[in-house]
Amino acid sequence: MPALVLLGAQWGDEGKGKATDLLGGSVDYVVRFQGGNNAGHTVVVGDQKYALHLLPSGILSPGCTPVIGNGVVVDPAVLLSELRGLNERGVDTSKLLLSGNAHLITPYHTEIDKVTERFLGKRRIGTTGRGIGPTYADKINRVGIRVQDLFDESILRQKVDAALDFKNQVLAKLYNRRSVSAEQVVEELLGYADQLAGYVCDTTLVLNDAIDDGKVVLFEGGQGTLLDVDHGTYPFVTSSNPTAGGACTGAGVGPTRISRVIGILKAYTTRVGAGPFPTELLDEDGEKLRTIGGEKGVTTGRDRRCGWFDAVIARYATRVNGLTDFFLTKLDVLTGWERIPVCVAYEVEGRRVTELPYNQSDFHHAKPVYEYLPGWSEDITKATSFADLPKNAQGYVRALEEMSGAPVSAIGVGPGRDETIQLRSFLD
Ligand code: GDP
Ligand code: IMO
Ligand code: MG
Repeated sequence: MPALVLLGAQWGDEGKGKATDLLGGSVDYVVRFQGGNNAGHTVVVGDQKYALHLLPSGILSPGCTPVIGNGVVVDPAVLLSELRGLNERGVDTSKLLLSGNAHLITPYHTEIDKVTERFLGKRRIGTTGRGIGPTYADKINRVGIRVQDLFDESILRQKVDAALDFKNQVLAKLYNRRSVSAEQVVEELLGYADQLAGYVCDTTLVLNDAIDDGKVVLFEGGQGTLLDVDHGTYPFVTSSNPTAGGACTGAGVGPTRISRVIGILKAYTTRVGAGPFPTELLDEDGEKLRTIGGEKGVTTGRDRRCGWFDAVIARYATRVNGLTDFFLTKLDVLTGWERIPVCVAYEVEGRRVTELPYNQSDFHHAKPVYEYLPGWSEDITKATSFADLPKNAQGYVRALEEMSGAPVSAIGVGPGRDETIQLRSFLD
């Protein structure tokens, strides 16, 4: 069982950090393969809480080598400050490996992200403002700056000049902003070179060798399936591929090497930022989910939009990712509802549809069709086996499993590492 992918099955914030950390003790490498510091992964170990943005959650497990793959966009200032923050808390980060091919988020990417959103006005995406979209745009436009460029001053200077020639025109003429000094950007970037040099390597080679040697490699997704630039609710998405295929391109491993794909699935649904969300609740149930579930963004502090579980989305995630397992999180948050609505299909212009409409307008108009499952009132946070769960909670899990198309192999009943019911090992 050498290589597993762990990813978000909804719109992000499903509990990927906790799930990765749980596995961290049994795996040799944990790899981020896409996204950047738009992610906010929370890990709770004992009474310590960590919020990781760019570093793989496996960094908290001493035996595990954390890897930032080529598909990630890296803000060097954020990376160094995150490393410093962990070091101050006694976490050893010396094993980190950073791909020389990963693209760098520079101050002008962050600036462009913010001004673009302002320019879009009410059509804005609600990005995290971390420069993610503009950095991936430069990568695809072939004017990006990569980690390896930090170590060749002349190349770095040429690339920054080339990138800014065009951008400064846009910033000044279109957005009415001050142009960015190439010299200042180069100086800032060169200042990171020595601090990062020790981590940089050919991560593709390391990871493929590790898989050849029978080591266990876990690919940790950021964001979620419905935020995928190809398979999500475009244009209200992020600019990378958080779906399973992204692990292959974003880490340089072939699909034949991946043996298991685990979808992290919240027992209800949340979303941050703009875009369609059929089961969104704008009433007191939504407020209750937000309060009990602590649904506030780890990265931007924004309130998360909350809604009931959507089985159409879960089934879609199973399809586009080839999911082999689900890790169902936050079941404990649903304690106390007499009956729990679950969306089993949509009504689109009078038709009942059970698959996610690929057409954007249809999805915008989709109305949830609910089935009602009986709730439970017993505290489940101390449950350690499936049998410990009240009958109706068991029924809720089994019903979701049946509707979603892959087995539930673990259930989260609290934020802590130990607050998990394991039904089937992920590492067989
Ligand atoms: P990620 O981005 O997918 O890693 O998820 P976030 O960390 O942004 O949000 C998930 C939140 O739920 C965090 O505050 C976790 O500590 C918390 N969490 C994870 N699993 C569970 C669970 O099973 N029950 C409860 N109550 N909280 C959980
Ligand atoms: P984790 O890894 C939830 C959302 C933003 C916005 C859209 C585009 O913690 O699950 P971007 O800054 O990526 O260009 O913003 O994507 N978004 C997330 N929502 N969890 C995340 O990460 C997210 N990362 C980006 O809110 O709607
Ligand atoms: Mg998050």
